[in-house]
Amino acid sequence: GHPQLHYRDQALYLEDQRLSDLARAHGTPLYVYSQASMLQALAAYQRGFAGRKVQICYAMKANSSLAVLQLFARHGCGFDIVSGGELARVLAAGGDPSKVIFSGVGKTRAEMRQALEAGIGCFNVESEAELEVLSEVAQAMGLRAPVSIRVNPNVDAKTHPYISTGLKGNKFGIAHERTVDTYRRAAQLPGLRVVGIDCHIGSQITEETPYLDAMDRLLDLVQAIEAAGINIHHIDFGGGLGIDYNGDTPPAADALWAKLLAKLDARGYGQRQLMIEPGRSLVGNAGVCLTEVLYLKPGEQKNFCVVDAAMNDLPRPAMYQAYHGIVPLDAGTAHEPQVYDVVGPICESGDWLGRERSLAVAAGELLAVLSTGAYCSSMGSTYNTRPRPAELLVDGASVHVIRARESVSDIYRSEKLLP
Ligand code: LLP
Repeated sequence: GHPQLHYRDQALYLEDQRLSDLARAHGTPLYVYSQASMLQALAAYQRGFAGRKVQICYAMKANSSLAVLQLFARHGCGFDIVSGGELARVLAAGGDPSKVIFSGVGKTRAEMRQALEAGIGCFNVESEAELEVLSEVAQAMGLRAPVSIRVNPNVDAKTHPYISTGLKGNKFGIAHERTVDTYRRAAQLPGLRVVGIDCHIGSQITEETPYLDAMDRLLDLVQAIEAAGINIHHIDFGGGLGIDYNGDTPPAADALWAKLLAKLDARGYGQRQLMIEPGRSLVGNAGVCLTEVLYLKPGEQKNFCVVDAAMNDLPRPAMYQAYHGIVPLDAGTAHEPQVYDVVGPICESGDWLGRERSLAVAAGELLAVLSTGAYCSSMGSTYNTRPRPAELLVDGASVHVIRARESVSDIYRSEKLLP
């Protein structure tokens, strides 16, 4: 899965950087990202949309480091945000607010005001109640808020239930049957300006069928809304394209879009303004998390490999039983391979990074947890008062520290003792 990761003389490299050198210099746990991988992933989308009107809005929740945002902004991306905090990050990174779309079921009035003040491109509204509130807030500011309505195409993305969002019975979007009425209401509200339609069917999608079905259903809705006299300027197809974690074979972004664009063309929508909201597929396979083996703990039923990264740093295995490859930074050691559960120091049985992995390692050696560019650092916490790891971005022979290792006092800086 990792385009820029390779062994050279048995040592693991990301681009031109020997990862063990970075771990020794910056400590562990350590996130390291490849700029070339991110740009390569972006280029696949850009190729797919050649000759089309598209705005790629990176779903920044996947990895919201300022430097990562800055990189994507420099390459023309807008951003899909889900909070006022994310908007502040976009602005701090030099992103263009007019290329920002604001998703999420629970936008507060304060967040709406903040986004209107910044002049974002579009609110992706998720409920009828939210439409009314947004209209009120915008009207009070003497503005009309640009809106899309997120529709629920009711297709099964065939992914993990926690990250599948396009089926009936989850909290996202407006039901297919309610869509035209909801658009009528939006068109009447004085504080709104209808600009588009939006859908997002889930995440880590590795098949093309759910996408093709969702596009058919979405275009049916565009047709019905426009037949009701409401013009849809842009079509936002969301994100969700999966990556290879463990032999997964998602379609390539350009190949998938060739098929989706053929559908748009066949129905006469091929020259519309398009938007997409990819997150994971832009950054997931660009990052690794480096960790040091603290102890090997052989047992009757299981052997444990205790490392210095944990579920607070890298929550996906604990949260979703997600698989991440784990490999040694030095593939040339002479140890006997053993099967281990790779676990962190946190006081929870759920604190594991990989199960039943065959590894030839010893205490003091270094491992890389793979495919950790998306939803790893950004979902991290400081549970057990563990400071967040440092993060590096490598670009060929250059290394940039994009986040300094957090200190313990950073963690409790805003806490107060009793009088
Ligand atoms: N647009 C919307 C409205 C979303 O909710 C999401 C992700 C995206 C775009 C980007 O989806 P992507 O291209 O990254 O699949 N923490 C989970 C994933 C949660 C996804 C949430 N929404 C994980 O670690 O697998």
